[in-house]
Amino acid sequence: MPHTYFDTLIIGSGLAGLTLALNLAESKKVGLITKQALLDGASGWAQGGIAAALSENDSPESHIRDTINAGAGLCDEEITRSVLESGPKAIQWLIEQGVPFTRDQKNNTGYHLTREGGHSTRRVIHAADTTGQAVQRTLGDKVLNHKNISVLENHIAIDLITSRKLGNTDTNKNCCFGAYILDNQSGRVKTISAQNTILAAGGAGKVYLYTTNPDTATGDGIAMGWRAGCHIANMEFIQFHPTCLYHPHAKSFLISEAVRGEGGILKLPDGKCFMSLHDERAELAPRDIVARAIDFEMKKRGLDCVYLDISHKPKAFLKEHFPFIYARCLELGIDITRQPIPVVPAAHYTCGGIVTNLNGKTNLEHLYAIGETAHTGLHGANRLASNSLLECLIFGQAAAKDIFNQEPIPTTKLPQWDESRVSHADEEVIISHNWDELRRFMWNYVGIVRTNKRLQRAQHRIKLLHEEIHEYYSNFRVTSDLLELRNLVDTADLIVQSAILRHESRGLHFSLDYPDTQSHIQNTILKI
Ligand code: SIN
Repeated sequence: MPHTYFDTLIIGSGLAGLTLALNLAESKKVGLITKQALLDGASGWAQGGIAAALSENDSPESHIRDTINAGAGLCDEEITRSVLESGPKAIQWLIEQGVPFTRDQKNNTGYHLTREGGHSTRRVIHAADTTGQAVQRTLGDKVLNHKNISVLENHIAIDLITSRKLGNTDTNKNCCFGAYILDNQSGRVKTISAQNTILAAGGAGKVYLYTTNPDTATGDGIAMGWRAGCHIANMEFIQFHPTCLYHPHAKSFLISEAVRGEGGILKLPDGKCFMSLHDERAELAPRDIVARAIDFEMKKRGLDCVYLDISHKPKAFLKEHFPFIYARCLELGIDITRQPIPVVPAAHYTCGGIVTNLNGKTNLEHLYAIGETAHTGLHGANRLASNSLLECLIFGQAAAKDIFNQEPIPTTKLPQWDESRVSHADEEVIISHNWDELRRFMWNYVGIVRTNKRLQRAQHRIKLLHEEIHEYYSNFRVTSDLLELRNLVDTADLIVQSAILRHESRGLHFSLDYPDTQSHIQNTILKI
């Protein structure tokens, strides 16, 4: 079996992983693992853009205030300040890399800035409505052409290799040496060792039946980190995006929040507006409020969806600002210049994750977590729109600096993956059945509005699934479906455990049993 060494092993190829790789590669050998093709992750799906105080009418102070307001008391002020003050410089770095952001000569920045919910001003720089794609293509090209970066596509990480896993029981000094990685094409498991390993594997939207995320978002980084002994924070705060397209032939298609930012209005089927009944900021309230308002109206009236109407804007404006949404909706028979768009809320972003410091370091030595996999303290109980790509950039760069400042560690000989006691799986149906079951009960029991009873039901089912999957994992050769299911169940467990521990409603966690927000502010931290 092959044994490979890199200075740095990055698991995940979203914006955080690509930024880190490019910032390290001048003097480090980087291995970049990605489950599908390099650009297939969630970052590439981001539509809206990247928030930063770029305009002369804006300031980092104002961006900090909006972020903290949206975060409902749980943003870490030091981290928030540090990230948002660095925002303009990080955007400048992307511009220097060649990202084609939409221009606007009338704006003092030279770029068009859009607005999204929770922002008190226009501050979201974007490339029309395919910002993630533009950023990922630009950086992805550089990564693929860099002589010091080896990209391993169609490879999925199984587990981290840590001192604890190798038998060292000193719990104060758990160190990461690399990871076992399944090459999905050959079916072989590689042992990859590295001075530093980085979990940059995105979030866990696929734990829910309805999500705006791609199929890759199966909580792999968070689950691997948890199994290795990382501390995990605030997993109860799952962000539901208010406006996912509702259409039988369109899975997970997002209608960007920028549509509301540019004047889109939410309506009931009879054309009546409802958002101002829920919040004075109406369509521009933070996401938790808008998603809950839609959920409330749908449940109260027995609706399948509500509608987002931007048809009052000129056709030329819509085609210029939302070419992707316009074209996709038209393909599906919805002309957004003439008709309202049917929408429903769907799971969108994992605000919690692996606890890290300002440099992306976890509590395990030589292990970092960045991007949606991490909990840095920036998002609090509800992420402000378009702050996540910024977080990927800032922490990708910060982790690179920290790695450069480190003393090298001696390389350790790692044991090979042991397949001597497993055989080929006989019943794949167990995997597909459990995938469906998990995602359905998470949607029904651990969704936008929660109760103690529903959470307990979910926990009971997770326990049964855990046992079944563990047995399957112990007896059969690993496949990517099995690994993803195992990660999804572990992540679901973390979400439910955290939700059960929070005896209040705050930000994205709303419980009918605890409808009030407590004055005492506390993160939910899980430790093995
Ligand atoms: C959107 O375009 O609505 C998504 C932006 C984000 O999630 O920050």
